[in-house]
Amino acid sequence: AIDLTGRHFLKELDFTADEFRRLVGLAAELKAAKRAGVEVRRLQGRSIALVFEKTSTRTRCAFEVAAADQGASTTYLDPVGSQIGHKESVKDTARVLGRMFDAIEYRGHGQGVVEELAAHAGVPVYNGLTDEWHPTQMLADVLTMSEHSDKPLHEITYAYLGDARYNMGNSYLVTGALLGMDVRIVAPRLLWPDNTIVELARQLAAASGARVSLTEDVEEGVRGADFVATDVWVSMGEPKEVWDERIALLGPYAVTMDVLRATGNDAVKFLHCLPAYHDLGTDVGREIYERHGLTSLEVTEEVFESVHSVVFDEAENRMHTIKAVLVATLSRP
Ligand code: CP
Ligand code: NVA
Repeated sequence: AIDLTGRHFLKELDFTADEFRRLVGLAAELKAAKRAGVEVRRLQGRSIALVFEKTSTRTRCAFEVAAADQGASTTYLDPVGSQIGHKESVKDTARVLGRMFDAIEYRGHGQGVVEELAAHAGVPVYNGLTDEWHPTQMLADVLTMSEHSDKPLHEITYAYLGDARYNMGNSYLVTGALLGMDVRIVAPRLLWPDNTIVELARQLAAASGARVSLTEDVEEGVRGADFVATDVWVSMGEPKEVWDERIALLGPYAVTMDVLRATGNDAVKFLHCLPAYHDLGTDVGREIYERHGLTSLEVTEEVFESVHSVVFDEAENRMHTIKAVLVATLSRP
């Protein structure tokens, strides 16, 4: 039996492939139980700190609803409302929160901060997004892929298009490699993941049977894909000034209907962790769209609203998968 009690979740590779799959399986069970109205509360009286140094809709709400469903309470610390990192060191904050809470979620910038929290908290720490990794998102994506495919995970192919030098690109690369999937990173070479991460993925692939490839060629990269994924071209924490350069580099990697057709797979599905710039309803700034003559960025409105898009299943699955992490690491037998 797989026992994850007391474990941190700082990056995907904190877990073995079996442990990762167990979390996804547990999420599916918890989702079914909630739908059937038979969910058992296994976290009564537990408390979880939610520390956010960047904004969030899905991750915060997923933790809050998952905890409430399981009988646990949460305390939300927003990007300006606590002393962490400003008036008090991460090490001290970790020791304080560890005395009051049973677990800590942390969203911030460098991976080093969440690692330091984990080193000193004495309770499980979960990475709710750093510049380097988005591990809880990967659980939701894998659950969503398993729900929208008849194939076993190791037969699924997915292509990630866009900025691959940041959290989502890194996470997609190592997760598919860990689970034995066919992972394609489709991006201009300048925006490929760091070599150390590519190397890591290749080592994992050698053990798992995964097929890992990186290409600048969109048609080649998406051919035969079951899923096409993308993410914003400029992430939280990056300066607005990089937008023009990213649009120039990534324009050819926008997910359009032509890209979906190039998979050759009528049943191809589209994934996006969200938020997405598929229309003008965001804070990118209208002048950026106007200057480039665009009405969408990384994904067109047509794809986003098409039958191929499973982004809201993916968003819902954040909650079920985060619940699985909480139950697996915190419940008492
Ligand atoms: N996908 C995701 O992490 O969304 P939020 O930034 O809204 O939490
Ligand atoms: N790459 C994005 C993901 C948001 C969930 C960011 O870091 O802002």
